[in-house]
Amino acid sequence: DNVFKIAVLPGDGIGPEVVAESIKILDAIGEAFQYTFKYQYGLMGADAIYKTGNPLPDETLAICRESDAVLFGAIGDPAFDNNPDAKVRPEQGLLKLRKELGLFANIRPLKTYASLIEKSPLKKEIIEGTDIQIFRELVSGIYFGEKFTEENGAYAYDVCRYSREDILPITHMAFKEAQRRRKKLTLIDKANVLDTSRLWRKIVQEAAAEYPDVQLDYMFVDNAAMQLILNPKQFDVILTENMFGDIISDEASVIGGSIGLLPSASVGKENALFEPIHGSYPQAKGKGIANPIASILSTAMMLDYLQLDQAADKLRESVEHAIENRYVTVDLKAEQPCSTTEVGSFIADYIKYSEKSYYN
Ligand code: IPM
Ligand code: MN
Repeated sequence: DNVFKIAVLPGDGIGPEVVAESIKILDAIGEAFQYTFKYQYGLMGADAIYKTGNPLPDETLAICRESDAVLFGAIGDPAFDNNPDAKVRPEQGLLKLRKELGLFANIRPLKTYASLIEKSPLKKEIIEGTDIQIFRELVSGIYFGEKFTEENGAYAYDVCRYSREDILPITHMAFKEAQRRRKKLTLIDKANVLDTSRLWRKIVQEAAAEYPDVQLDYMFVDNAAMQLILNPKQFDVILTENMFGDIISDEASVIGGSIGLLPSASVGKENALFEPIHGSYPQAKGKGIANPIASILSTAMMLDYLQLDQAADKLRESVEHAIENRYVTVDLKAEQPCSTTEVGSFIADYIKYSEKSYYN
């Protein structure tokens, strides 16, 4: 039927502000296409710690499990960042949620917009036409290995562990995506140093036999960090482990002109969560300057996941319309920047009115 249960986790910092715009837009999509989105809100992150002592209360997890999709804002709070001794931390909530929901693949698309090409600090010739899809493994590796801090603080360690079962599903997903795109897959690793990277290479190499039409390349992560800004157009689909994916996706965001534009989908076998790749940006909280587009495009990825293809297309068209008409926030160096809510309302109105004129 046409009713969808959406778990909404606004979180910390600018999270609630950008998520509010996504809800405005989902409501517009619902009106234009006759869908009903039912929202259930959950606490998460520092906000949840302050209110309940737990960065991911059981109730939030339950809401997420029974939803068709999760819309998430951001978490993080300087009060914790600046206190390395804090035992309970906002990030633990997000990591636990990813793990509990089995969200093994984090998909981060990146492309340039013609009307924003001058806004990137990188040269136009270098970035124009870039179109990359990053597949970041999300529930294993150093983020989830054994951790230890010696009592006197003399030493600490974090174990990076990967098994075949951790690597294989995302590998197939990335190959399949490459087949739908320009048929090139680059595995980013540090196989000249790390055993886990050598395991990745072995497994990815084996899987490659099933995708003879896809060109498979390997690149060490240090070189990849350089190649991404020297010649980003050489990449189509990137596959990488958890921490390398975290780092290179922030780096890659510079190509698009602002990290405030980049969405992501985190998918598992039964659940999926949609979030902007930017964090909680506490300095901007409450100022109405946060760019809602990363969250709004994450909502478009959610519509893809729910197989509401026409609605997803309409949403992306509307975002492009806002960008082309310079209805953008201050991070995109607009001469007359719009506020967070102005951008969201502009996009929501465009969805409603352009759909109406289409049908009438
Ligand atoms: C991200 C974030 C998270 C991560 C943090 C908040 C735990 O940086 O989604 O990229 O490192 O995965
Ligand atoms: Mn990150």
